[in-house]
Amino acid sequence: MKQREQWTSKIGFVLAAAGSAIGLGAIWKFPYMAGTNGGGIFLFLFILSTLAIGLPILLAEFVIGRRGQQDAVTSLKLLAPGKKWYWIGWMGLVTSSVLLSFYSVVGGWILSYLVRAIFFSLQNRDYGMLFEDIIANPLEVLFAQAAFMFLTTWIVQGGIKSGIERASRWMMPLLFIFFIVLAIRSLTLEGAMEGVRFLFVPDWSFLSGKTFLLALGQAFFSLSVGVTAMITYASYLPKEERLGQSALNVSILNIIISLLAGLVIFPAVFALDHSPEEGPGLTFVIFPAIFNEIPLGSIFMIVFFILLLFATLTSSIAMLEIVVSTGIRKKYHLRRKMSWIFGACIFLIGIPSALSFGTLSHLDLPGGTFFDFADVLTSGIGMPVNALLVSLFAGYALSKAETEDELRMHHTLHAVWKAIVRYAAPIAIIAIFLAYFLNG
Ligand code: TRP
Repeated sequence: MKQREQWTSKIGFVLAAAGSAIGLGAIWKFPYMAGTNGGGIFLFLFILSTLAIGLPILLAEFVIGRRGQQDAVTSLKLLAPGKKWYWIGWMGLVTSSVLLSFYSVVGGWILSYLVRAIFFSLQNRDYGMLFEDIIANPLEVLFAQAAFMFLTTWIVQGGIKSGIERASRWMMPLLFIFFIVLAIRSLTLEGAMEGVRFLFVPDWSFLSGKTFLLALGQAFFSLSVGVTAMITYASYLPKEERLGQSALNVSILNIIISLLAGLVIFPAVFALDHSPEEGPGLTFVIFPAIFNEIPLGSIFMIVFFILLLFATLTSSIAMLEIVVSTGIRKKYHLRRKMSWIFGACIFLIGIPSALSFGTLSHLDLPGGTFFDFADVLTSGIGMPVNALLVSLFAGYALSKAETEDELRMHHTLHAVWKAIVRYAAPIAIIAIFLAYFLNG
């Protein structure tokens, strides 16, 4: 039987965990959610949710994973024998599958843009129209989504080390540099300040249970919390790694990238006469429009979409990884076969999401189209509920000796963390749910 692999280096884990966390959540979803939910107020609630709720629960997932040293289901069984807590793991598997089903649709859009940027010039176009053309074409979106899922599955079935570590090592820093350059360009466009104001000055009339739930969901989504992904990831982690530091790094990095994405998008939105309420297309409409304002933009655009593709792949492979490792448990020899089977199933589940902007755009489900519905199911329900359970598990099912041994933090910090996962985070999540259901 093949042994479980471990991360070859500390930095390998941090990068891979960050690589899995940072992806479309910060770059694509954050700007469009902020754009449709009041800008500054959404940013504020997002940062608050990330630091006060997301970070402690991320840490809880790290603790569970490294303590258990197994896939999420087995780890939870080992840590709480004879109890039902391991259902958290199965729930994570389902949530992760639904998440990947629409994530891969957006991954497909990136492939579409990349191929077009390479073979046809995307200069001086009506970028709103371009996006509409792409997403409304059923053959193109389905083909692109299939291609993206194929890439994801192909990397996952090759095993942890070879695939994930190598890819995330240098792509992410490069993408970061791109964002800084683009933000500078965007901020120096005429009329850019309007966008800065939109992003930073809260419009309190948007403060509601709904905005809070969306911001919380966004925090979980972008930290990869609430699908047991980080449990699986941390199980590959050597004992020396400092969990607190890693969790903090991932959270801060995530906030920084989200902010940067906002600083690229919103100044340009206002300067180039677009609307912040564009929806899921926002990133895809605005980025090409900014490249259009840059010398050699058409070449940089190709490089950018390649980097974005990698940022997205490091996330999608992590999602499939959870599904596969939970699905196969200890039957390591099934890895290849199961990767392809799960990959194919997730592609099938994603088909209605892919068609949501054309053929199936008339569907009216909770949240909107099927695509929106899948998002509500995961970011709005699955991840917050899962995170709530993880928090309770870490707070009540794990002993003080266990968590102290894993966290190796100053005892005051440990006590703060314990109080958050026991009381503050669960109460906050429930309160946000209530606020949403009682008055929207
Ligand atoms: N955090 C990822 C992003 O921002 C999305 C994500 C959510 C994820 N849950 C995950 C990625 C689980 C990997 C594993 O793009």
